[in-house]
Amino acid sequence: MAETVHRLEPLERKPLSDRTCLVTGSSRGIGREIAFELARCGADVVVNYRSSEDRALEVTETIEENGETAIPVQADISEPAQVERMAEDVHDELGGIDVLVNNAGITVDRTFEDMTYEDWTAVIDVNLNGTFNCTKAFYEDVKTSNHGRLINISSVVGQQGNYGQANYATSKGGLFAFTRTLALELASHGSTANCVAPGFTETDMLEKVPDRVQNKIRADIPLDRFAEPSDIVGMIRFLASDQAEYMTGQVLGINGGMEW
Ligand SMILES: NC(=O)c1ccc[n+]([C@@H]2O[C@H](COP(=O)([O-])OP(=O)(O)OC[C@H]3O[C@@H](n4cnc5c(N)ncnc54)[C@H](OP(=O)(O)O)[C@@H]3O)[C@@H](O)[C@H]2O)c1
Repeated sequence: MAETVHRLEPLERKPLSDRTCLVTGSSRGIGREIAFELARCGADVVVNYRSSEDRALEVTETIEENGETAIPVQADISEPAQVERMAEDVHDELGGIDVLVNNAGITVDRTFEDMTYEDWTAVIDVNLNGTFNCTKAFYEDVKTSNHGRLINISSVVGQQGNYGQANYATSKGGLFAFTRTLALELASHGSTANCVAPGFTETDMLEKVPDRVQNKIRADIPLDRFAEPSDIVGMIRFLASDQAEYMTGQVLGINGGMEW
């Protein structure tokens, strides 16, 4: 009996070459690496930032020097009017986007006893309301794209809670419910929504944590090290790709084996 011959299609060299991705907060840290990774896969990338103009320009210039397309767009995502202006700029320059990565986030750490209303709202305004503002401004794009993807960057802290981070943990936990709901509402349009929950990652955000506390955290990580931004970006690439078109509503932990 003749054996069936399977043809193994070679991997696409640039799997995201026909799409445009916006990464909020991609002037530094995890967002910057996500921007590089999506560009490496051929995507046009919008590099959003709040105040680090020079850092954002470095990111876009690096991408352009490597033969891909990137534009920097300033907007404080906690300000609806600024996000709407960003959407207009993006639509004028690149047209609609396919992939929105809600990455920008901040911490204002304090025990609950000392936490003020201002500490609470500062974090909720960026991490949760900023995600709302950006998703609202680009919802139609993501909904109608043939490759529509909403990717929200949460945290293991949203799963576990963390001493001194009631505001941050709440904002990150809220993203799980937001993602699940958007996944249901986008599903009939063939677009997906997923959430990535990194563990503690070597960026400016972690640098603000005192060494004593960092050592305590590291002791609870089975893989015995903090993540590098490069540990996180492969999952974003996958979620943005065609291979992830049947995955939606999920929370994907990348945390060195921390329990939750
Ligand atoms: N590092 C960690 O341990 C860790 C762990 C789990 C999850 N995360 C999450 O991963 C995401 C990235 O964190 P990171 O560690 O890369 O942070 P980071 O190094 O502090 O960088 C934060 C980025 O967000 C931008 N940003 C902050 N507030 C903004 C606003 N209101 N509008 C627009 N952009 C704003 C910053 O822009 P400017 O440069 O202009 O200020 C910067 O590009 C966050 O959502 C964070 O919660 C981080």
